[in-house]
Amino acid sequence: MKTLKIALLSLIVFSFVISYAFAAGDIVKGKALFNDIKFAGGTAGKSCNSCHPEGRGLEKSADKKEFNIFGKTQKSLEEAVNICIEMANKGKAIDVKSAEMADIVSYIKSLKTK
Ligand code: HEC
Repeated sequence: MKTLKIALLSLIVFSFVISYAFAAGDIVKGKALFNDIKFAGGTAGKSCNSCHPEGRGLEKSADKKEFNIFGKTQKSLEEAVNICIEMANKGKAIDVKSAEMADIVSYIKSLKTK
């Protein structure tokens, strides 16, 4: 009985860890999207990396509360990413709660420490 309880508890803890890992986003996947000219249906033939090589210039983005890109104000990093998708990559804004957004945001956050 005790072993069963331990097994069940570990399973619960494990699934929390897994769901957290997904929600937190994947830096490697985010970097791949950052380099993908087709990301978010982009038709400009440019990836994020074309204008932000190796993420240069985005080192402070993770801590910003407000952005001003292409003459508009954005209130979050997700909105900033979406404005670049629409205006720069000529793609379609993605769901701010999507896995792709979590991935790209975690890549941008990873630039902070460099
Ligand atoms: C055609 C060039 C271009 C492309 C492509 C582009 N951006 Fe940008 N981006 C800019 C410009 C210009 C700014 C505003 C000036 C600045 O802050 O560097 C900006 C600003 C940003 C900022 C805010 C920087 C800050 O801290 O104020 C983020 C975050 C960002 N871009 C992410 C992305 C992502 C993610 C992609 C790919 C989906 C992308 N950009 C594609 C040109 C581009």
